[in-house]
Amino acid sequence: MKRFQLVTTGCADVIVCWHCSEKTRIFGKQIEKLQDLIDNLLRMNTPEFTNELDLWREKVEKEINRLVPSSGTEPQTLHRAMRHSLEAGGKRIRPILVCAVARCFNENTAPLPAAVAIECLHTYTLIHDDLPAMDNSDLRRGRPTCHKEFGEAAAILAGDALLTLSFEILSSSYSNSPSLANFLIQDLAVASGSRWLVGGQMEDIENEGLALSTEKLSSINRKKTGALLAAACIMGARIGQANEAQLALVRQFGALLGESFQVIDDILDYTASAEQTGKSSGRDAANGKVTLASIEGIDSARNRATFLTQESLNTLSNIQGNTAFLESLVRWLEQRAS
Ligand code: IPE
Ligand code: IPE
Ligand code: MG
Ligand code: MG
Ligand code: MG
Repeated sequence: MKRFQLVTTGCADVIVCWHCSEKTRIFGKQIEKLQDLIDNLLRMNTPEFTNELDLWREKVEKEINRLVPSSGTEPQTLHRAMRHSLEAGGKRIRPILVCAVARCFNENTAPLPAAVAIECLHTYTLIHDDLPAMDNSDLRRGRPTCHKEFGEAAAILAGDALLTLSFEILSSSYSNSPSLANFLIQDLAVASGSRWLVGGQMEDIENEGLALSTEKLSSINRKKTGALLAAACIMGARIGQANEAQLALVRQFGALLGESFQVIDDILDYTASAEQTGKSSGRDAANGKVTLASIEGIDSARNRATFLTQESLNTLSNIQGNTAFLESLVRWLEQRAS
């Protein structure tokens, strides 16, 4: 990673590259912003944080392998299609949130099955989101999209199967704690249903090419993306047996983080390459999607993401337990490049 040092001299503020000593002059408010950026970059790139992130990903991927039928299971085309999209990688943010939030409270119950359940559900939404009738994307997680590789019928069915599997995993993995299983199923079902995720996707499609207020746009983002990130946090808190007051804070934290997550995703759709994100870029403009980046510009969208991120951090500071990893995760998500 490139590293910079901010140096204030008698006549100017300069940033000095630690590698080549190249100097760049900067002015006024840029200095404060850069100092914040450098502080955040240094804080979130500690080896402790990146090691922990890798460790969680590894655990989640092992559990995916354990809980999802093998690609040799009949019908093989369907199971290969499911695994094609699931195993392609991805940031695994939702499952990691389940595990990291659970750990803040109580580690008596295993969070990994719930983590895999939400990743299965999320992957189904991506497969369907990419279909020609929706965003019509060719690339996802660095691979051809499910319908490009297996055809539309198999992609629709792979999505259906992953959605259903997520509830099978929750009901069977937590059957020893029926009340917990019930809450987890309800949290995930409500967040992904017609009033939240699927409803948000409907409004996203219905409003293509139309002028939207920023309020309406926020509402769509909260539904199509915020609700599932909030569900990941709530499910973690349920597994950790958090009390009602803590659950409410966790819900608010996840919703703010989730809205910010979509604003940044929209910025990346404009600014990042397909190599960087592993998915087709420029799809929002091609589909006439109204996003904060398209109506107010990249800088304004970035400011909104920073505001939402800060609000989520403020909420996080009231959540009990060791939240250091979650804090780094939130900062890392704000600066992410994919
Ligand atoms: C993409 O989600 C879809 C949105 C809700 C913006 P992610 O950015 O979490 O995708 P993966 O899981 O890392 O591929
Ligand atoms: C998708 O939003 C949200 C869901 C999948 C629910 P986008 O359409 O912006 O996601 P990407 O950019 O295709 O990943
Ligand atoms: Mg979409
Ligand atoms: Mg899309
Ligand atoms: Mg997008």
